[in-house]
Amino acid sequence: MEYSNIIVETRGRVGLITLNRPKAMNALNDQLIDEVGHALDGFEKNEEIGAIVITGSEKAFAAGADIGAMANYSHMDAYKGDYITRNWERLKSCRKPIIAAVAGFALGGGCELAMMCDMIFAADTAKFGQPEVKLGVLPGAGGTQRLPRAIGKAKAMDMCLTSRMMDAAEAERAGLVARIVPADRLVDEAIEAATVIAGFSLPVIMMIKESVNRAFESSLSEGLLFERRTFHSAFGLEDQKEGMAAFIEKRKPDFKHR
Ligand code: HXC
Repeated sequence: MEYSNIIVETRGRVGLITLNRPKAMNALNDQLIDEVGHALDGFEKNEEIGAIVITGSEKAFAAGADIGAMANYSHMDAYKGDYITRNWERLKSCRKPIIAAVAGFALGGGCELAMMCDMIFAADTAKFGQPEVKLGVLPGAGGTQRLPRAIGKAKAMDMCLTSRMMDAAEAERAGLVARIVPADRLVDEAIEAATVIAGFSLPVIMMIKESVNRAFESSLSEGLLFERRTFHSAFGLEDQKEGMAAFIEKRKPDFKHR
């Protein structure tokens, strides 16, 4: 597939996707999301990739779904089509960890895209918002669901109902953001963290991602059971033998990702 809305690169064991519609503040049209899905397919199949970073530009991670593209949709266009939100599911189903590296605006679908990733690194310039209410619609890809789970009802209501933006410091305080990074270090720091992750056992990393996500889908006792069973299964991995042997022998582990 030839990409016209994103740039896809690898840095060692890290896959890097850069959203690239500079004239439209990286507005997320259907084709862009399809391209992201295709790039994720490639990274998931590639044994040499252990973690993924998605970033945008200095000005905008993404200023939301493409308003021009959807302005004239009918209800049936929105409901029946594969676009607006159905093809977004690919992000959620990705089993390798994804870091969103956000500088500038992450608005509407842009904020939702970042929240579909496993953690968000924010440049000190980042601004998060759910301004859909100003357009006569509501968030459609997790703004009313992932946002309250991330930052609580009070701030999620404030953002969705008033369209107020949060800066990076508030977003970190509220729990939306894992780290704040100087803007000129954002992508490097995200790649460094992704490189650390990609150096660990890939099946273990996938198990951790599955298990943490289970915390948002289940009761505590179900989640703890899922974690315990998954923990037990880690003892079937060569990497568990290697990791523990390396500790005992006071050397660095050499994980083979199996
Ligand atoms: C289409 C967009 C866009 C968008 C910006 N642009 N956001 N085009 N869809 N979401 C375009 C502008 O039209 C403009 O094109 C160019 O990008 C630069 O934007 P400006 O407005 O001139 O820049 P600035 O004054 O710096 O303001 C930046 C901004 C503003 C604050 C990000 O553009 C803005 O408010 N954008 C809309 C944000 C929004 O409402 N997002 C939610 C979308 S709904 P031209 O051609 O004029 O230069 C949504 C629902 C998701 O996301 C549902 C799930 C899929």
